[in-house]
Amino acid sequence: MTYVCMNDFRDAATLPLAIRDESIIDIAARERLLDAAFGAARFAKTCERLREGRAPAQGLALAATLGDELVGTIRFWHIQAGAGHAALLLGPVAVDARHRSLGIGRKLIADGLFRAVQRGHKAVILVGDAAYYNQLGFSRVVTRGLSLPGPVEDERFLGLELDPGALSGATGLIMPTGVRAPRAIPHTQVEPLRRAA
Ligand SMILES: CC(C)(COP(=O)(O)OP(=O)(O)OC[C@H]1O[C@@H](n2cnc3c(N)ncnc32)[C@H](O)[C@@H]1OP(=O)(O)O)[C@@H](O)C(=O)NCCC(=O)NCCS
Repeated sequence: MTYVCMNDFRDAATLPLAIRDESIIDIAARERLLDAAFGAARFAKTCERLREGRAPAQGLALAATLGDELVGTIRFWHIQAGAGHAALLLGPVAVDARHRSLGIGRKLIADGLFRAVQRGHKAVILVGDAAYYNQLGFSRVVTRGLSLPGPVEDERFLGLELDPGALSGATGLIMPTGVRAPRAIPHTQVEPLRRAA
């Protein structure tokens, strides 16, 4: 285990932070992180209806690590944002509570969006706090004509056009379009793999 003294670093720019593709050995740590950040209620969220049973978008399931410790996670999912508007759903994103307010969340999101652009994706939607996501360019304006398959607070339903105008005229219900996920591997099987890695 690599020991990292957080007091030695001021922000994500100076942290020994790595953002990389998530792998199978990250699953148990990612799930623990998400449980701690959101609790069991995370599975009842409306966005989960767009993720359940699906695999995340290729190359857009990322892990933030400090040494060999997973400290952040972000994933994106394929959706259809109304007829003719392929897009991504961002989330969940979470950073370990011991490492927050160091810029890791912002870096994870920015890195994810950069990779999404590189892969030709044109728009991203999410449900989250406008106070945080407005700073990253997300706004309610581009999701006005869209709806989600369940209840959300109106001001938290946000979008970002990676290609300007990509959500122009987008109306209707957002639907999941990602490929079906392979059967989930129980944590009890993943943990020995993680220890052996
Ligand atoms: C949201 C989260 C990912 C941010 O991670 P982070 O690494 O702390 O983020 P950053 O360091 O880039 O930014 C931190 C800043 O954003 C602010 N911030 C964090 N969450 C916020 C929120 N929900 N609304 C408004 N501001 C928020 C912090 O107060 C902090 O402000 P400061 O720089 O003035 O101190 C992290 O707080 C987290 O995991 N929260 C629990 C899970 C969650 O809510 N995920 C987002 C779903 S919408």
